[in-house]
Amino acid sequence: APAELRYDGKVVVVTGAGGGLGKQYALFFAERGASVVVNDLGGSFKGEGTSTKAADLVVNEIKSKGGKAVANYDSVEFGDRIIDTAVKAFGTVHILINNAGILRDISFKNMSDEDWDLIIKVHVTGSYKCAKAAWPYFRKQKYGRIINTASAAGLFGSFGQTNYSAAKLGMVGFTETLAKEGGKYNILSNVIAPIAASRMTQTVMPEEVLKNLKPEWVVPLVAVLVHDSNESENGSIFEVGAGHVSKIRWERAKGALLKTDDTMTPSAVIKKWPQVNDFSKPEYPTGPADFLGLLEAAGAQGPNEQGEPIDFKDKVVIV
Ligand code: NAI
Repeated sequence: APAELRYDGKVVVVTGAGGGLGKQYALFFAERGASVVVNDLGGSFKGEGTSTKAADLVVNEIKSKGGKAVANYDSVEFGDRIIDTAVKAFGTVHILINNAGILRDISFKNMSDEDWDLIIKVHVTGSYKCAKAAWPYFRKQKYGRIINTASAAGLFGSFGQTNYSAAKLGMVGFTETLAKEGGKYNILSNVIAPIAASRMTQTVMPEEVLKNLKPEWVVPLVAVLVHDSNESENGSIFEVGAGHVSKIRWERAKGALLKTDDTMTPSAVIKKWPQVNDFSKPEYPTGPADFLGLLEAAGAQGPNEQGEPIDFKDKVVIV
């Protein structure tokens, strides 16, 4: 069996670490030798109010077991202050777990701009601000590990959660691009869609289900992804919970090539609908350029005015 994974000398920032999943991450990394910044705003699960208590309790628990931790009470919207806390207390930051989150569930029909804005602010802007402030340290030391937190609600949609779904799938795109930009500097970013019993889920699931969704069971995957021994897993999406871990990826159907002449009509799309939806020979694209490869493979290079084939790869920018 491999030796126990350790995090001695590492500085770990965990946002929203006053409860739920964040608390479990903080306790774990402190127990395994890391110095931990326990960030928590201490508000309700709907994002109301603030308190220093949530973070303090976790810091006290870590210290009572001989671990190293400091509290930070800022909202993740002020991620620079959270990273400052890490730098002042421990000199730098190596690992960032963007975990803080809230819910404002309501049908789309009844959603207010406040419900929308607050969710985007905490999840998307909060994760951005923390990563942005940590990035210069990661770059300088050629080492960084980021975990962002998505949700099945973002991957698949979920009733009453248009705001949360938009924010959570935003975490996927954010992670995929951070991975592409950070990879060559040994900054590895991955995103998880967890499921766990917490105050966030305790009102929506029965007790016997919650018993099998221990937040501690999400920690091992995160621990592996942010460890030194992970040198290549980057930009990946994982579903994790109830003791189960699996990777998620994009799948593209075979598709159909419509000729780019006067047959390029809506009825041509209808005619090729079966191919558009044909997943019998799927592809698994990992970058925008993969679509251009598909065009090439399908022989889509039409001739230019000089009658030469057009090389899409050099000419097309996908935005
Ligand atoms: P939780 O409510 O127990 O923990 C979230 C923590 O974040 C709380 O301690 C809260 O005070 C803190 N927080 C909220 N807003 C903050 C802010 N602006 N700045 C700093 N801290 C803030 O919830 P849980 O379940 O542990 O959720 C953790 C993450 O996992 C969240 O991002 C959540 O959206 C995500 N998630 C959880 C799922 C689950 O099944 N529990 C499912 C899918 C995603």
